[in-house]
Amino acid sequence: MKPSVFMYCILCSVVAVPTCMSHVCLLSPPQRGSMVGINKPGAPDCGLKNATCGGRAAEASTVILRYRLCRNSIPAYFKPGQNFTVIIQKNLDHFNMSMPGNFNISLLDEKAMKYTRLGMIPDTSDPSLTLYSAIVKIPDGMAKQAYALQVVYNTMDPAPPLFYQCSDVTVATMEDTLQFVPLTRAKPLVV
Ligand SMILES: *[C@@H]1O[C@H](CO)[C@@H](O)[C@H](O)[C@H]1NC(C)=O
Ligand SMILES: *[C@@H]1O[C@H](CO)[C@@H](O)[C@H](O)[C@H]1NC(C)=O
Ligand SMILES: *[C@@H]1O[C@H](CO)[C@@H](O)[C@H](O)[C@H]1NC(C)=O
Ligand SMILES: *[C@@H]1O[C@H](CO)[C@@H](O)[C@H](O)[C@H]1NC(C)=O
Repeated sequence: MKPSVFMYCILCSVVAVPTCMSHVCLLSPPQRGSMVGINKPGAPDCGLKNATCGGRAAEASTVILRYRLCRNSIPAYFKPGQNFTVIIQKNLDHFNMSMPGNFNISLLDEKAMKYTRLGMIPDTSDPSLTLYSAIVKIPDGMAKQAYALQVVYNTMDPAPPLFYQCSDVTVATMEDTLQFVPLTRAKPLVV
């Protein structure tokens, strides 16, 4: 991950918006769509209730060729077997004391609707806007292609129980990512 590019995305996304039902943002890798107003609880971009990605489609069919900044998201590349840190924000707290929920992290092949579970973060009584992170691993031998990295906030509350967020990621090797030339100053997120 390139912290400078990440910070740029945060800075240019901080704009106040009216509140509404909202819950989880996926900060890194950056979520589909925008992250407008995430410094306040109830950012509309974080309250997506429709499975499987909040109604947000993949932002490019061949993610591997994309070099776009900020609102259009930065393609994130990971090698099979690579560890990386997923950072989420509980934008609006829904902690259920009697039945604590969780944030499930998966790689989703959207064509085949096949899930690969990467990790789970338990919900806590921490307030809205708390950041949570998890180190997850792309399984060895994971097929090299585009995926949605999906986070589901499983609130355990009756209505609505689940909130969705996805980012576009590509599993590729270094050789794959070096086959093309950057068109802008942005660099691929190769670790
Ligand atoms: C979510 O699903 C409802 C019901 O199917 C639909 O009316 C609505 O447009 C969807 N919203 C998004 C953002 O996809
Ligand atoms: C990846 O994380 C796992 C634990 O989740 C650890 O055992 C392994 O050593 C890590 N691999 C690398 C290359 O850091
Ligand atoms: C999330 O993960 C937990 C632990 O693996 C599992 O019990 C739960 O059913 C999952 N929830 C969803 C909504 O996938
Ligand atoms: C917490 O979870 C329990 C068990 O699923 C449920 O009955 C209850 O309504 C939930 N509480 C709230 C505040 O959502």
